[in-house]
Amino acid sequence: MCGIVGYLGKRQATPILLDSLSKLEYRGYDSAGVAVIEDGKIRVTKKVGYLNQLKQALKDDQAVGVTGIGHTRWATHGAPNEVNAHPHLDCTGRIAVVHNGIIENYLALRERLIECGHTFKSDTDTEVLAHLFEENYAGDLKQAVSNGLKEVEGSFAIAVISLDDQDTIIAARKDSPLIAGIGKGESFLASDIPAVLEYTRDILVIEDNELVVLNGSGVELSSLIDGSTIKREPIVVKWDVRSAEKSGYEDFMLKEIFEQPHAIRETMMGRSYQGRLVLDEIKLSDKDIKAIDKVFVVACGTSYHAGLVAKYAIESWTRIPVEIDIASEFRYRDPILDDKTLMISVSQSGETADTLAGMRHAKEQNAIVMAITNVVGSTLSREADGVLYTHAGPEIGVAATKTMVAQMMALYLLALYLAQVRKSISLEGCRRILRELRGLDVMVQEILDDEVELGLIQQYADKHFDKSDFLFIGRGVGYPVALEGALKLKEISYIHAEGYAAGELKHGPIALVEPRVPVVAVACEGHVYEKVLSNIHEVKARGANVCAVASKGDKDIGKYADEVLYVPRTSEILSAVPAVVPLQLMSYYIAKKRGCNVDQPRNLAKSVTVE
Ligand code: AGP
Repeated sequence: MCGIVGYLGKRQATPILLDSLSKLEYRGYDSAGVAVIEDGKIRVTKKVGYLNQLKQALKDDQAVGVTGIGHTRWATHGAPNEVNAHPHLDCTGRIAVVHNGIIENYLALRERLIECGHTFKSDTDTEVLAHLFEENYAGDLKQAVSNGLKEVEGSFAIAVISLDDQDTIIAARKDSPLIAGIGKGESFLASDIPAVLEYTRDILVIEDNELVVLNGSGVELSSLIDGSTIKREPIVVKWDVRSAEKSGYEDFMLKEIFEQPHAIRETMMGRSYQGRLVLDEIKLSDKDIKAIDKVFVVACGTSYHAGLVAKYAIESWTRIPVEIDIASEFRYRDPILDDKTLMISVSQSGETADTLAGMRHAKEQNAIVMAITNVVGSTLSREADGVLYTHAGPEIGVAATKTMVAQMMALYLLALYLAQVRKSISLEGCRRILRELRGLDVMVQEILDDEVELGLIQQYADKHFDKSDFLFIGRGVGYPVALEGALKLKEISYIHAEGYAAGELKHGPIALVEPRVPVVAVACEGHVYEKVLSNIHEVKARGANVCAVASKGDKDIGKYADEVLYVPRTSEILSAVPAVVPLQLMSYYIAKKRGCNVDQPRNLAKSVTVE
């Protein structure tokens, strides 16, 4: 997730671009850059690191010009360095582009453009856009952009300037956000509303597959599909900047819960082609993959729970034995690894000290190390043999939500890829699972759009926010979901909550069960569903209030549980994704009811870089 901005008007562009970018840093902060038209050329300044680096570089040396674009980057393709920072230019230096999104087919486009004589400077997917527009330019920038985008697959929100159309900015979007701000004799572009609120509250929302032209006469909207003009009234936004950064949500955590369908799509994007997975980025040869005879998954906290889900997927789809370890324990138990072991290190930040130490220990034992991380250029990503990035965008809330769901998606993809290469499941079987994976974003969206369901969760929170102990239980992949539900509740509401394998209750924990201890049971459809039902009986018999997370269409669960939160039905191993969402919301609403700071809970940090 990156932030793009644009300005066209009568004031100097650079200060406005920098100020607008500062309101978008929550979208990414690997690098930043601006391109301004000055004296007949496009002047580009870009710096790696936080926006301040760019501001320092421009302090006494700003371009003089009234048309410009800018970008703050969250790297997805290409390390976070100056060359890969946006804006990117075409060969002639007459076109500059900034982009938020993922160009799925950028490699094919890059190869074709190089064959046509274009020279590339960066490793990014974005740079292909500048050369595509150069190739299509025949005197009309709007037409060049529209034609160029017809070849693009993936997600984009872009802004383009050109020396040949100096009083124009062209922008367009598909699957990435973009808005235009309408001022008096000036116009603004941005990925999100906070960037322009200081200058105008008249906002034109740009929808998918739309192209917008900013020029001296204002803002013109048209369809990317057929070029037809679109008439849309601007809205007047009343938010303050802070709430605008949260897109109107009360907290980043809630915003990030609602960003999960997008995080799923972005993490899936560009990783399959004609029903087969394409994961060249992990740099594991088929020979390496076929030689693997053991897998370790090592992580902390929520990432550990995502890793637990991966254990079920990898063992079920590949029949390779998987050991899963909490990173702070792993290296001290003298684990047995060798060059036929695949170690999967899962870390949203890519900087967790215990996880890094575990990975380094595995490398010393000649294991192959794969990183699953959300941060391009993080220590984990740089030291691992291969990386499969989650594309969830920056997660501001300390409690992991969208990054966990993105981790599960990446881990499912990795497990399926291992199975595809080892042929441990048929091609049709792989295709079936891939189709189900592609449907998970819609399932999560269905939960988030279900006002009745959200109301039930809020009612549950109102009823139990003052309890001092909770039990979360589940079986199969429902077990890591239960662990995650308990962790979420603990870390943002400060209520004591334990997650248990439902079958384990009778070995001790059931002594805790009494009416004042709510039990949350993850009971989605699967081969252990009946067993979970009997565990619900066990706790009900001891007076517990039971809230079950169950599959839509389940006609039985309502006879046993006091409350039921239904989620869309999917295959058992993938059910962890929809099942975790109601538990995220449950912990959020309970914590809010208790007046807790959900984005910055006490005692916690977003990344635990100490052992
Ligand atoms: C999860 O909500 C917590 N913030 C915490 O458990 C976190 O998952 C853990 O510290 C691991 O962080 P990482 O994914 O960045 O390695």
